[in-house]
Amino acid sequence: MWKKIFGNKDPEKVPSDTSWMDGIDRARLPRHVAVIMDGNGRWAKGQGLMRTAGHTAGVKTLKRILKTASDIGIEALTVYAFSTENWKRPHAEVDFLMKLFAEYLDKELQEMNEENVRIHFLGRIDGLSGNLQKQVREAEELMKANTGIRFNIAANYGGQDELVRAAQSIARRVLRGELSPEAIDESTVEDCLDTCGCPPVDLVIRTSGDMRLSNFLLWQAAYAEFWFTETNWPDFTPEEFVKALVEFGHRDRRFGGLNDAGER
Ligand code: IPE
Ligand code: IPE
Ligand code: MG
Repeated sequence: MWKKIFGNKDPEKVPSDTSWMDGIDRARLPRHVAVIMDGNGRWAKGQGLMRTAGHTAGVKTLKRILKTASDIGIEALTVYAFSTENWKRPHAEVDFLMKLFAEYLDKELQEMNEENVRIHFLGRIDGLSGNLQKQVREAEELMKANTGIRFNIAANYGGQDELVRAAQSIARRVLRGELSPEAIDESTVEDCLDTCGCPPVDLVIRTSGDMRLSNFLLWQAAYAEFWFTETNWPDFTPEEFVKALVEFGHRDRRFGGLNDAGER
């Protein structure tokens, strides 16, 4: 199993002791895990490197976490790669991130496809460069019939922007006379979100110590559990990911009601 997770190319990363996986109660696993991959810049600073080196290191972590989630049997993994606000960063950093994104898709696509991953992109894809848009659409097309983990990459994504787009699309249907305003309910909105067709988000993980959503999955996180760690994303390990899953299994989710024992 671990060979599959880490691949033979990275043998030093194969842990000899996998007992930390024993705590996983499959009946209490989250179906959909969302990750705010934060702290690449802080990690790089700590190593005396340029911020961009942190982003490169972050891609390696992403590969390991995707493989771990897939092997454990998580249904959907959503990762925050670039927000609608990240354009405010220096041009050189934005440019680097876009190139890294293109390179990642270029290099990883075949292997992801072989592992039955179903990739999907969230966000304003039309705001990316023409070449990237093409890569994104080709990746989705290539893997659309796959039946493994649904892997959502949020790129040029903002939760507020997603809700604005949903409102626009609903308004257009009302204008066309296809929908009456009274008939709009939660499912109407949900069907217009970029995550349409995914199970509800059960768990949101944010690395690097900040405790906020930063415009990530505002609607979808309504009843998600939150898990924070001080670890910067490049140092985040499969072990820590599993720790978050195990802790999720011990949470008492009430969704506004009472728990099974009839208590709060
Ligand atoms: C997350 O790391 C990656 C992106 C936002 C693209 P950061 O680049 O935000 O790293 P910090 O938060 O500055 O350390
Ligand atoms: C959120 O991180 C976006 C991604 C991880 C892609 P940021 O680093 O942009 O968030 P803030 O600015 O600290 O809120
Ligand atoms: Mg950050």
